[in-house]
Amino acid sequence: MLEQIAKVRESFARALEAVQSVETLEQLRIQFLARKGAIAELFEALKSVTPAEKPALGKALNELRSWAQAAHDERATFFSQHPASERAVDLTLPGRPRPIGSVHPITQTIEEVTRIFTRMGFETAEGPELETDHYNFEALNFPPDHPARDMQDTFFINDTLLLRTHTSPVQIRVMESRKPPVRIIVPGRVFRNEAVSARSHVMFHQIEGLFVDSGVTFGELKGTLVAFAKQLFGSSVKFKFRPTFFPFTEPSADMYISCFICGGSGCRVCKQNGWVEVMGSGMVHPNVFRAVGYDPERVSGYAFGMGIDRLAMLKYGIDDIRLFYEDDVRFLRQF
Ligand code: DAH
Repeated sequence: MLEQIAKVRESFARALEAVQSVETLEQLRIQFLARKGAIAELFEALKSVTPAEKPALGKALNELRSWAQAAHDERATFFSQHPASERAVDLTLPGRPRPIGSVHPITQTIEEVTRIFTRMGFETAEGPELETDHYNFEALNFPPDHPARDMQDTFFINDTLLLRTHTSPVQIRVMESRKPPVRIIVPGRVFRNEAVSARSHVMFHQIEGLFVDSGVTFGELKGTLVAFAKQLFGSSVKFKFRPTFFPFTEPSADMYISCFICGGSGCRVCKQNGWVEVMGSGMVHPNVFRAVGYDPERVSGYAFGMGIDRLAMLKYGIDDIRLFYEDDVRFLRQF
């Protein structure tokens, strides 16, 4: 019977919560508190319990009745003090607006770059952020203990696992899983163990590009990158390619564009020299082809990689990379 008392208590509480008007409150009173209501029925049942049980059950029942009566009375008082007209919903009030989000400037830049390369026939590929030493370094022609590994300060998880330092390992993963021709771009997040400052962060974004087929030339690499940069920065922009070193390309070249802020005359963005570096690139190294089982005598290809955060900073005139990761809506709302 104690169980029944608890059940009645619970359903009374639930019903009272749903009461919105004097009428439904009265229905509730009749159902539970009136002479033939649920509580009265329990008192009726009390008559047939053993004398030993009676005192405890009687006490519980009395408590239930006075609690329910008090809760009912409190609600009745509330209704008498607040007339229905006052409690009604005012449909003429304006709604509460929900804040509308905006697309993050990094995402916008990735989408814009992706759109340009998609029109040139590249498809998008992705890979894991947690990588193995093999994909991040070894297969990209960074031998163990090679000083080129120091170009990228790495977060190691253990001896073989690390947070990828660039999107280049996805080149390997895609080539391993397909036969040439391969024409992909790879947007993604990368990580480096660097001191956080206005100019560098422990995580940022890159877009990698790879084209492999038979007879791909350095001329095609230049032509593709120039076509890309003209679409992103405007057709009046000027270019230069400067030799550099990457383990996974040979020859390698950094691409510079004339500063689109000052037009080349010198400003803070280009550090007064009129040129800004936009990406690294080069012809895929034969050892990279060997690592994925391609024959370097039969295929050739080019690759490139650019830092998205830097591009977005240049494009929007942002001078602190940390702003991208602080989620300050006053910053984000501007895009
Ligand atoms: N992975 C290089 C970096 O993070 C960027 C890069 C340079 C990618 C040249 C390439 C490339 O594919 O060919 O610094």
